[in-house]
Amino acid sequence: MKKNNILISPSILAADFAKLGQEIVAVDKAGADWMHIDIMDGHFVPNLTIGPEVVSSLRQYTKKLFDVHLMTMPANNWLEPFAKAGADIITIHLEAESNIKESLKIIKGLGLKAGLSIKPSTSENTLEKYIEYCDLILVMTVNPGFGGQKFMTTQLEKIRNIKNMQKRLGINIDIEVDGGVNKETSKLCLEAGANVLVAGNAIFSEDAKNYSNLINSLRNNN
Ligand code: DX5
Ligand code: ZN
Repeated sequence: MKKNNILISPSILAADFAKLGQEIVAVDKAGADWMHIDIMDGHFVPNLTIGPEVVSSLRQYTKKLFDVHLMTMPANNWLEPFAKAGADIITIHLEAESNIKESLKIIKGLGLKAGLSIKPSTSENTLEKYIEYCDLILVMTVNPGFGGQKFMTTQLEKIRNIKNMQKRLGINIDIEVDGGVNKETSKLCLEAGANVLVAGNAIFSEDAKNYSNLINSLRNNN
């Protein structure tokens, strides 16, 4: 049951890739709010995932928001293809482009929500000059590239600082956390000020009949 404004965005990176359509239907029915789709280019991160054609073919399986996390460098040449493929949100990495303001403007110009992400080694202070152009900030709590890594508690202060920055500047954005989020660490993220939780292994490593319980326990913290 939904009892708060916490949004859950299952990362399909941990789903069964041989039946991605069915997996999306299953988490949609189980109460997922968004679908987190990790795009990796083997260059910005040491792993490869999927391109716009696959995303486009998944679009028919749900009406929920496609939360596309672009781990590519450069990012700009992929904005339009993923917008056409059905993305609702595109999050780029601050480390991957030189003119971030321009990239965020392109995303908004495509009619999408614009997100900005930073790696664990990047300071949150770098976000301040871009935050007003963002709909979302994605805080990485693992080094991007792979699912199933251990949550870095060192990033909790970063979430708190971004929440304070948001309050201080009087702007309204989503604060999303990605990497190692599970029943225990989700609580810490929410306490620190996050409102969107990405979870890959914490959901997809169990049987599909448990997806609903797992999503609810992340959302309701029980
Ligand atoms: C890592 C990805 C994450 C990943 C999270 O680079 O951005 O979205 O799928 O997976 P878990 O929740 O298993 O850490
Ligand atoms: Zn991600």
